[in-house]
Amino acid sequence: MNLVSKPVQEISGDVVCPGDKSISQRILIIGSLLNCNIKISGFLNAQDPISTLKALNQIGALIDIDDGVIQIKKRSRSFVSPEAPIDLGNSGTGIRLLTGFISGLNLRATLVGDCSLSKRPMSRVVNPLLKMGKDITTNEGKTPIKIKGGSINDNFRYLMPVASAQVKSSLILASLSSGNSIQIEEPKVTRDHTEKMIEYCGGQIDVQDSSTNKIITLHKSKLSEISSYEVVGDFSSAAFIIVAALISKNSEVLIKNVGLNKTRIGLLKVLLQMNAEIEIVNKRKVCNEICADLIVKSSDLIGIEVPDYIIPNIIDEIPILCVAACFAEGETLIKNASELKVKESDRLNATSLGLKAMNIDFKLLNDGLIINGSKNDVVIDQEIQSFDDHRIAMSFLVAGIRSKNGVKVKNCNNIKTSFPNFCKIMNSLGTEIHG
Ligand code: S3P
Repeated sequence: MNLVSKPVQEISGDVVCPGDKSISQRILIIGSLLNCNIKISGFLNAQDPISTLKALNQIGALIDIDDGVIQIKKRSRSFVSPEAPIDLGNSGTGIRLLTGFISGLNLRATLVGDCSLSKRPMSRVVNPLLKMGKDITTNEGKTPIKIKGGSINDNFRYLMPVASAQVKSSLILASLSSGNSIQIEEPKVTRDHTEKMIEYCGGQIDVQDSSTNKIITLHKSKLSEISSYEVVGDFSSAAFIIVAALISKNSEVLIKNVGLNKTRIGLLKVLLQMNAEIEIVNKRKVCNEICADLIVKSSDLIGIEVPDYIIPNIIDEIPILCVAACFAEGETLIKNASELKVKESDRLNATSLGLKAMNIDFKLLNDGLIINGSKNDVVIDQEIQSFDDHRIAMSFLVAGIRSKNGVKVKNCNNIKTSFPNFCKIMNSLGTEIHG
């Protein structure tokens, strides 16, 4: 499905932020382990969390979805090794977290994914799991991942070589589901929803936070039953609405229920530094996560040098940050972001080709981009390829708002993996994004 986004003058109104993808997947996994009846509200009913839901049911979890409300039901038997391969579709979080979780449960399983997932690196989770005692094979570091046997060692210590919440969570879940303890040292801080959820469910998890690194210790933990869980909104989805409002000429938007976990809001800090008018109201804690409502207004953005330490916290938001940078006066410098090359697409390449089609003055670096923005509308004279990547598709559809003649973005089906109501929500605010 191709989508066209036409120029519009104003974005205004109120919207509710869709549920957080990372948290939706984690509550399915941790909730299944608790083995009690749990009602989940605010769940992101999108392809990635649904792949994780189906995968869990394949190993014996009992999870129902009815009208967007998820019910995890108490099981009368243990988890089982699945007969058929488990297909995680496009979900990197699903495959990596479940590789750890299933390893800890001592099941045998084969995990696969779609064409994009099959190209993504899996050694980053498999190598530490091998060191932890598991017998797992891959196809030269890629899928299929075959979990064959072995058991998880207690007291495993791991220094993270790559800043990845998926790797960290995979190892924590392996230890949790096998009833063991683990200590992980994280030189660069990544999202901590797994830690927060385990703590919320009564697990013993300590975090020592120094200026240079974080040490996370999961002690042998028996989690407590919970009866309900509310998923807060996804900051990464809100990012598209925020940037749309900032770059439009006469905008004021209220985005309700946005998750503001400290490890996720790097983009907020960057945008505020770029002169963005964003007000945080109604801040509250929901199921151990911070959330709030955001009021966002049209802003005269300025380019900045994005600090390196913040990169892991904005990794999913860099494509939309690049769109903001196109309309910010002066230079925006993003470096140390090579991880972008191993996301759902090579996002450095995909973003640079989109910027080229937008006739932006920019330079592609080996690990980032330098964008020379201005206040002017852009002329987009070529179709933009999404490379089947939801965040690339949504970023350039937002850019279309400030184009002279609109933009056509190719192959936008993938938006369903993280933000199925993207067009509906954006168009309710005044954009014109259609098939
Ligand atoms: C995620 C972690 C990030 C992020 C992904 C979701 C998670 O990946 O890019 O969209 O839910 O843990 P990495 O941990 O590989 O950086």
